[in-house]
Amino acid sequence: MLQQAAVSGRILIVDDDERQRTALAGMIADCDFDIQVASDGQEALERLASFSADVIVADLVMPRMDGFELLRQLKERGDLTPAIALTGFGSMEKALSAVHDLKAFWFLEKPVEPRTFKILLERAIHYKRSLQKNDELKRELSLRGVLGDLVGTSPAMQQIFSLIRQVGPTSAPVLICGESGTGKELVAREIHKCSPRGDGPFVAINSAALPEALIESELFGHEKGAFTGAAERSAGCFEQAHGGTLFLDEIGEMPMSTQPKLLRVLEDLRVRRLGGKHEIPVDARILAATSQELGTHLREELYYRLSVFQILVPPLREHKEDIAPIADVILRNLNKKHGTRIAGIDAEVLDLLHRHDWPGNVRELRNTLERATIIAGEGFIRLTDLPSPAFGVGSGRHNTRQSPELDGPLVLRPGQPLMKIDEAYVKLTLEHVGGNRKRAAEMLGISLRTLQNRIAALREEAKATTPGA
Ligand SMILES: Nc1ncnc2c1ncn2[C@@H]1O[C@H](COP(=O)(O)OP(=O)(O)OP(=O)(O)O)[C@@H](O)[C@H]1O
Ligand SMILES: [Mg+2]
Repeated sequence: MLQQAAVSGRILIVDDDERQRTALAGMIADCDFDIQVASDGQEALERLASFSADVIVADLVMPRMDGFELLRQLKERGDLTPAIALTGFGSMEKALSAVHDLKAFWFLEKPVEPRTFKILLERAIHYKRSLQKNDELKRELSLRGVLGDLVGTSPAMQQIFSLIRQVGPTSAPVLICGESGTGKELVAREIHKCSPRGDGPFVAINSAALPEALIESELFGHEKGAFTGAAERSAGCFEQAHGGTLFLDEIGEMPMSTQPKLLRVLEDLRVRRLGGKHEIPVDARILAATSQELGTHLREELYYRLSVFQILVPPLREHKEDIAPIADVILRNLNKKHGTRIAGIDAEVLDLLHRHDWPGNVRELRNTLERATIIAGEGFIRLTDLPSPAFGVGSGRHNTRQSPELDGPLVLRPGQPLMKIDEAYVKLTLEHVGGNRKRAAEMLGISLRTLQNRIAALREEAKATTPGA
């Protein structure tokens, strides 16, 4: 004796065979289901515009738009409605691919057995309900000023959250603009997480941090022997990001000569490794970021291709009301990282944080709090825990500066190694602008790439000279 299904739900049955549709609907007629039918994928999409189904039951082989294409389009839209694929004799491969590649909930072989059909429908409805619950929780959290790792209750940040929620589930390219340290990479990661590709890879490539000669091989990959030093075949970022998201950071630093090649890959969705003969299909959603005016840095066609949608992340000085909530989350994370027990920030420190202009934005805030957390260790962060030059306050409970020569003005004495002066000068300038590399590069009269390379070289040197490193 079949048990009547205990759950209620909305079911859309898609099949070109009218007898099959009627038979399937008949099998569940005694359940508390609201059932609609469609005769192919196209009609199903039209139905879904006004019928919010809990489960879609779709035949895989149909004229006009088949079930496979229907599932592909739903996945592309980020529609997470569970779908059950109906498969006839000999199309098991297709059914498995629908489950594996298109994330169908499961498949059912024809002729459909009523009891299995009901059980599967019930499970799919439960799954849909838990997705909804999860969504509600996420929405509630984001309304309280958190979206993943992004924090912000100001209207400016809330606007960004809602843009992320709108554009995230689509496959549209997004250009994220904002000063250094404002959170562009975090925004990119949240867009990725909100998308149907969220479980896939997130691959970032920063043009400013790579020597020009290496950018193309990093992006497109290379075959063994493609150029001097290419000892092994290597997959490029496009291939690595297959099924996920490729984040092109500092897109304005992408060499002019590489830009048409990049555009071609974006248009053809195929990539050829350097020295390679074959084109490889790529399926990566593209996000790009820039901390500078793109102006003449980006070819027009590429700009239009990448900026279908733009998100402008404001500098921290323009949403200072977020300093307290952001600091709160940062401190919680820092306590975990350093095993400290910081309970919060003194009111007068908070006041000072609000008065500071934060040229290095949230990254500068994070660095300031990290330093203060280590110094204070527990309790509340006090004025004396803040670094002196940027805030014009005391020199700290302990002197934690790693380069004491930077505490005062740079003293030039004859005979000092040029490297040392170089290092001290770069550090001094970076500190002056709160770690904002773009501003530091402008002040030093060098390109952002040169500055990034210099910092990387200094880090390498520091590692090499640190005992035990
Ligand atoms: N709204 C925010 N909430 C919480 N943390 C944030 C927020 N914005 C930025 N951060 C933190 O600030 C730091 C810098 O962020 P991120 O690397 O995303 O900035 P960016 O804009 O990509 O900087 P750059 O241009 O220098 O690459 C990170 O530690 C990040 O976690
Ligand atoms: Mg970044």
